[in-house]
Amino acid sequence: MSFRIMVTFFLLIYQAKSLRRYITWDDMKIHQDKDHAEGLSFANGDDYNGNESRVIVVDQKGRGDSLTVQAAVDMVPFNNSIRVKIYILPGVYKEKVMVPASKPYISFVGDPNRASETVLSWNDKASDRYKDGSELGTYRTASVAVESDYFCATGITIENTVVAVSGEYKKQAVALRIAGSKAAFYRVRILGTQDTLLDETGSHYFYRCHIQGSVDFIFGNARSLFKECSLHSVADKYGAIAAHHRNSEKEETGFSFVNCSVTGSGVAIFLGRAWGNYSRAVYSYCDIDNIIDPSGWSDWNQPWRQRTAVFGEYACRGKGADRKKRVSWSKSLEFKEAVPFLDTDFIGGENWLRL
Ligand SMILES: *[C@@H]1O[C@H](CO)[C@@H](O)[C@H](O)[C@H]1NC(C)=O
Ligand SMILES: *[C@@H]1O[C@H](CO)[C@@H](O)[C@H](O)[C@H]1NC(C)=O
Ligand SMILES: *[C@@H]1O[C@H](CO)[C@@H](O)[C@H](O)[C@H]1NC(C)=O
Ligand SMILES: *[C@@H]1O[C@H](CO)[C@@H](O)[C@H](O)[C@H]1NC(C)=O
Repeated sequence: MSFRIMVTFFLLIYQAKSLRRYITWDDMKIHQDKDHAEGLSFANGDDYNGNESRVIVVDQKGRGDSLTVQAAVDMVPFNNSIRVKIYILPGVYKEKVMVPASKPYISFVGDPNRASETVLSWNDKASDRYKDGSELGTYRTASVAVESDYFCATGITIENTVVAVSGEYKKQAVALRIAGSKAAFYRVRILGTQDTLLDETGSHYFYRCHIQGSVDFIFGNARSLFKECSLHSVADKYGAIAAHHRNSEKEETGFSFVNCSVTGSGVAIFLGRAWGNYSRAVYSYCDIDNIIDPSGWSDWNQPWRQRTAVFGEYACRGKGADRKKRVSWSKSLEFKEAVPFLDTDFIGGENWLRL
């Protein structure tokens, strides 16, 4: 039996067990102690506490099960139903990675204290061409794209190394595109310039992550909580952090930043721009450096969006948090109004997060 067939075989055996529709800390940990050896391959993997999981080790130097992250994802069977932890050893992995919708319950795990040493790196930009000759466009530039549910990641860096100079043609270059319905990221570094994090659809939790970019560097129509993250601008002329794409009052989507730090290169940027008519972004308890355009928020030159966009700030501090010159259609929230945005309830976490 080839190794790949064997792996698939072992995974199929465990498919029969019940689905676990939530994410725990355990999903982001590799157990190496002898009593609970998950094994560094499938064959000797064991139940840990009765929680089903398997580990695939990725190592560029050939000491694991796979040399690349994509090859590890490819080993996971379609319609996977148990947690598969892809344990990525330090190194710069120059590859474009796609986790398809048919492969839920995948974790990318590095060492949470050394996230900068395990790097998934690619460099597509919107003006590049796809195989068939068509222009890639922003969405297809992602260095890492995740379309499956219950994905989580920790201890890694995901980057797109294209440097977008403001005003240059189609330099949008996504590092991470996340479109699964539920996902959690802990101590993940997401680096790029224009359009770094495409937080496309679904409910997502970013905890203690570092996100770097220039223009609209967190964008999409997901419902996401960014807690204790550092948001770092590398804008050279202008820029914006959040470009949320909510288009109707009925959508429960939005970006909530809680207890984050906002720093940058010194160029004035917006906290957010109204990409959709009902764009929604709220900053609470954030520490904001002196890099924010005093007006704070932009209507994307579509003045009617001023009536429907939901842009709020609550109890932020730092020079960039001064609201004296803010656009009148943004809001200084009362505590009561901020409450729905302050914790994982905002992303329905009670149903799918056990952290
Ligand atoms: C699975 O792991 C979690 C902690 O991560 C633990 O609370 C739970 O009891 C475990 N399940 C079983 C069946 O032991
Ligand atoms: C995966 O599940 C879908 C829907 O249940 C099914 O149609 C498909 O055949 C399955 N694929 C595999 C490879 O089992
Ligand atoms: C903000 O995060 C720090 C740790 O980074 C924590 O000590 C503090 O209690 C948090 N503050 C709030 C208001 O959540
Ligand atoms: C946004 O609002 C404008 C003005 O009311 C309207 O013309 C446009 O169709 C709306 N866009 C969407 C996607 O609903």
